[in-house]
Amino acid sequence: MEQYKILYLASEVAPFAKSGGLADVTGALPKALKAHNQEIRLMIPKYKFINERKYVLREVIRLRDIPVTINGVTKTANVKSAFLPDSKVQIYFVEIEDLFNRPGMYIDPKTNKPYPDNAQRFAYFAKAAMETLKILSWQPNIIHCNEWQTAFVPVYLKTIYLNDDFFKGVKSIYTIHNLTVQGIFDPKVAADIDFDESQAKEGGMFNKDNKLNLTKAAIHFADFITTVSESYANEIITNPDVGYGFEKLLEEKGEKFEGILNGVDYSVWSPELDKSIPVQYSKDNLEGKTENKKILLSRLGLEFNENTPLLGMVSAVTEQKGFDLVLEAMDSLLKMNLQVYILGDGDRNLVEKLYEYRDKYPDKFAMSLSSDDKMVHLVEAGADMFLMPSKYEPCGLHQIYSLRYGTIPIVSAVGGLYDTVDDLDVETGEGTGFILDELSAKSIVKTVKKAVAYFKKKEQWQELQKRVMEEDFSWELSAKRYLDVYDRALNE
Ligand code: GLC
Repeated sequence: MEQYKILYLASEVAPFAKSGGLADVTGALPKALKAHNQEIRLMIPKYKFINERKYVLREVIRLRDIPVTINGVTKTANVKSAFLPDSKVQIYFVEIEDLFNRPGMYIDPKTNKPYPDNAQRFAYFAKAAMETLKILSWQPNIIHCNEWQTAFVPVYLKTIYLNDDFFKGVKSIYTIHNLTVQGIFDPKVAADIDFDESQAKEGGMFNKDNKLNLTKAAIHFADFITTVSESYANEIITNPDVGYGFEKLLEEKGEKFEGILNGVDYSVWSPELDKSIPVQYSKDNLEGKTENKKILLSRLGLEFNENTPLLGMVSAVTEQKGFDLVLEAMDSLLKMNLQVYILGDGDRNLVEKLYEYRDKYPDKFAMSLSSDDKMVHLVEAGADMFLMPSKYEPCGLHQIYSLRYGTIPIVSAVGGLYDTVDDLDVETGEGTGFILDELSAKSIVKTVKKAVAYFKKKEQWQELQKRVMEEDFSWELSAKRYLDVYDRALNE
């Protein structure tokens, strides 16, 4: 296999900075690529909350006081270095004091709104990353970008750095993790991010619906586009409700657009190894799972009953994740022999309405807002079933974690959910979870009912658990597919 030099760029990487599944992916795929003998390095912004001592960030003398100029305004970057935990994958932290030394990543906690200079912040991050490569004399073959915060690089490579010998032959890959988060700005911002102003106007390459759209820019300029599951890749070119007007543009990319399913880092997400859950367990020792359930329920103030299944959800509370449907289904769900726990925050209105059910069914339903990582692991370990009725889901990771924890997923038939869960045939016992036959509250109720009935058949349920715990979605395979994409981008 060829060995490439790969720069992997992201705005968040677990465990340093995480707002969602993106960080799990960016913290794991590079390790898998390294295991395939690739020379890979990461760069992320150095946010204020990243603890330099805890993660042993080191100064790099050469990378101090790097001038980064955009539209005539120079800022100073200081780049520090560390390693991804338990690995030899190097990660650089780009510190630009006045842009990233703030309490939030994208949202200002004071106003609850995006920082008004987000486009400029990430433009400087991108340019600082490119300048850093030059100082290091480390010339990558591939720059792999993720989401709009890194969309600047594919554009810069083909515009302001086009005639720079250092970047000759460097190819950019752009991965879409969620097409609804597009990086939309006022076209007037173009000059401040070194984008051609005329292309930011209506009809231009950066313009969509009369706004400057960074996702559109990246799709135009990147050498290869990927997204995080095959079904989602298909949905965003065929279904306008999911493609948000990008259908045609992506379809035109032809062979240069592909869905590659995310993997899972099983060194973090396995009940045998998971240090953050009270009792480790495996498929040969499912009593350990019951112990976790007891501990979880007692923390939630709910009573344990071995015949009552616990349905867990860990999710942003939004309509995209299907919470409007969950609300509609709530009464019917809570009338079953079932307990429900929701861990997640989001849409105020939906959260408030969910709270009402807590008051109505205090011994069957619990909910908490904190996204405490330990609690997330405990839900995976302690719940019997896991519900994800998303309207669309690029990949989704919790259904895959759930499989490994013997927590049977109940999912809608979209995107990565569809690609990772097989609908159970209750007659033959084949399958790995329960799939909704349509996106509706009625279907949620019907499907959960089916799962609750199956849960009663203790032996079959345990067999199902043991079988799903053997499912393997490790990064190994997906990493190989990315390598194939790199090959194709470089040898076109
Ligand atoms: C986004 C998507 C989610 C995906 C994750 C990682 O958060 O919404 O489906 O699993 O990115 O790619």
